[in-house]
Amino acid sequence: MKSFVALVAFAGHVTAYPFVLEELVGRDDSSYGRGTYGSGCGNQGPGSGGYTWPGDNGACGWNGYKCPTPKYNSSAQAISQKRGNCGAGNPCTTFDPKDQLVSTSGDYAFKAPTSNQIRGPCPGLNAAANHGYLSRSGVTNNQETVAGLFAAYGMGADIAGALAQLSIEQFGDPVTQQWSIGGPVPNGGVPQNVLTNVGISYSHNNYESDASQTRCDAALLRGDAHSVIVSRFTETYVNRLVIGRGATPGNKRDAGYTLDSFAQDYTCKSQWSIDKNPVYVSNPLAGFVVAPAAFNFIINFMSNHSAENTQGWLSPSVYKSFFAIQGEYPNLRWVKGQERIPNNWYRRPSLTPYNNALLVADLLTQYAAYPESARLGCNNGRTGTYTQGNAASALSELTTGGLVSFIPAVGTPVTQLSGCPGNLYAPKGQDQPY
Ligand code: HEM
Ligand SMILES: *[C@@H]1O[C@H](CO)[C@@H](O)[C@H](O)[C@H]1NC(C)=O
Ligand SMILES: *[C@@H]1O[C@H](CO)[C@@H](O)[C@H](O)[C@H]1NC(C)=O
Repeated sequence: MKSFVALVAFAGHVTAYPFVLEELVGRDDSSYGRGTYGSGCGNQGPGSGGYTWPGDNGACGWNGYKCPTPKYNSSAQAISQKRGNCGAGNPCTTFDPKDQLVSTSGDYAFKAPTSNQIRGPCPGLNAAANHGYLSRSGVTNNQETVAGLFAAYGMGADIAGALAQLSIEQFGDPVTQQWSIGGPVPNGGVPQNVLTNVGISYSHNNYESDASQTRCDAALLRGDAHSVIVSRFTETYVNRLVIGRGATPGNKRDAGYTLDSFAQDYTCKSQWSIDKNPVYVSNPLAGFVVAPAAFNFIINFMSNHSAENTQGWLSPSVYKSFFAIQGEYPNLRWVKGQERIPNNWYRRPSLTPYNNALLVADLLTQYAAYPESARLGCNNGRTGTYTQGNAASALSELTTGGLVSFIPAVGTPVTQLSGCPGNLYAPKGQDQPY
């Protein structure tokens, strides 16, 4: 709380001295995770879509929602907090600038998408396409996905391949193995491109999920689970920064986001959905695995690396860059299509890709520390009616097979919980074209 008061007192100076913001809003290990960031941000909605943009002012605004203190197991929390930004067990012990510097020039120069190029809800895929690591058209294929996401982020071929396969099934073409990074789209899942979808049909909660860090739950915003809700971003931006976790480990002037602070963020964002979304659902793949794993992707894939900090760190400005957020706090804006890989940015080492095994290790670490974040259940049509199902078999599947074992065989639907009204919800509203 002390640091929050300080932030308010010095808010006027923040723009001139961005490092001061990092220090002032940085939470130490004992105080973060209980943020109360209020509303007041401007938002730049789709604008051209021709429909009223509720964004921050509608059902999705954060509006001063107060994160409850998550229940935690203190010895498991200590393990969670010891994680660096390269994943459980702190596996990145080397730094090779030549290997890790990600080119943002020449073929890989940033170019915002043009009107016939597709972008979707995933900041990682959008940034990769904006820099030519995936086709700038937004239509990619299995092979390019695996190669491009390794080059840009150090993503393991096991999870990149599995996610590409699932995407091809839902919004791609199994014959050509192409798929659209436009991802989940409304109106029965017809992809926003010319491909013929002959795979399984798309449904909200197959992969696209509720309780995203910065996007709205689909049911609350007429199917728009793509647009960044600036007040949701800002909640994380302000409240999940931890002092001493920046470029120089231990330096109290130097703050960054961590796997543990994002685990707490997920615990809170999913509690928000329980409190606000009558049809919130957390299914085995989309909710138990992917939704929290996406929070961990931000830390593991967007952190910058150096010889001094081989595990990496994620600063507020790098976080903003990947999420297409511009301006200085408190005047943050989302500028659609502007997801950028920063210049001079070093990804995780090629020797240590973020793969299925590391993905599992991070989730198990989180679930031990914050058991309630292992969500498998739904609201029954009214807010606050969340019932947690028996997670034992999902936990054992996660432990033994990881993300890849939740991906169904070709042609088979994704397993969903029964009796959850959210599963019947098919987004029908107008989504924004990119
Ligand atoms: C083939 C690989 C990938 C696929 C198919 C994919 C697909 C998606 C989809 C459909 C969503 C929306 C889910 C939702 O939040 O409801 C999403 C969210 C997200 N993805 Fe990806 N993604 C991939 C790789 C990556 C990579 C490499 C990164 C990081 C560099 C990343 C970071 C994220 C983040 C941070 C979110 C949550 C965004 C938010 O809460 O605002 N993804 N992804
Ligand atoms: C707390 O976490 C530790 C480490 O993961 C574990 O050994 C212990 O059984 C947990 N305690 C409870 C009460 O769940
Ligand atoms: C990444 O870290 C290196 C080494 O500290 C630094 O020179 C570079 O500016 C950082 N990049 C970004 C985008 O912050």
